[in-house]
Amino acid sequence: MNNIKACIFDLDGVVVDTAKYHYLAWRRLSEELGFVFTEEHNERLKGISRMDSLNILLEVGGKSFDEETKLALAQRKNNWYIEYITKMREDETLPGVREFLKYLRENNIKISLGSVSKNSMIILNSIKLIDCFDAIIDGNKITNAKPDPEVFLKAAEALSVKPHECVVFEDAIAGLKAAKIAGMKCIGVGSSEILHEADKVIQNFENLDMSILDF
Ligand code: BG6
Ligand code: MG
Repeated sequence: MNNIKACIFDLDGVVVDTAKYHYLAWRRLSEELGFVFTEEHNERLKGISRMDSLNILLEVGGKSFDEETKLALAQRKNNWYIEYITKMREDETLPGVREFLKYLRENNIKISLGSVSKNSMIILNSIKLIDCFDAIIDGNKITNAKPDPEVFLKAAEALSVKPHECVVFEDAIAGLKAAKIAGMKCIGVGSSEILHEADKVIQNFENLDMSILDF
């Protein structure tokens, strides 16, 4: 018998493909700092917090700065990133997401966002998806980034459900780990080779039905 009452969605890489905008902004920063940051390097930043991402970028470039300078650099990158995401349109929502969220609501499944991004509200506004969520837990409401389970536990609490009644949709390994630590089921979105820790893996949200929530 299926006891799932809620679904929690990561944002970047699950609902929208923002990795390309993160990349453009990080690359611009690396260029200013005088080194090359490739798309392959950018893969390492998926699911990682903004400051942890900056630390990886600086490690790639062999640079080190004091904390104050690092905060200014992260802010600089974020200003460019915001320029991109404020221009996003509804049709940048990944295939099947909008339909699946509507379908879940029709089937009385509660829905929360569970993202470490502090820009979640800007993105959801741009793609006009805010109304599809019963709760939104983002980087502004948590202290510990994934793989810490805080973001998902807060989502369950906001929806008044128990962790074992939740399914998390995630594209990043750090997110899958967080879901597992939270005691939740997790469905990887992307490649099963990379996301082998997930209970199930899907390529996208097209043509899903309630059986996806059977474990
Ligand atoms: C995650 C992204 O969702 O959010 C990471 O996968 C990003 O790449 C992180 O660094 C933090 O995002 P933001 O928008 O707060 O800089
Ligand atoms: Mg993600």
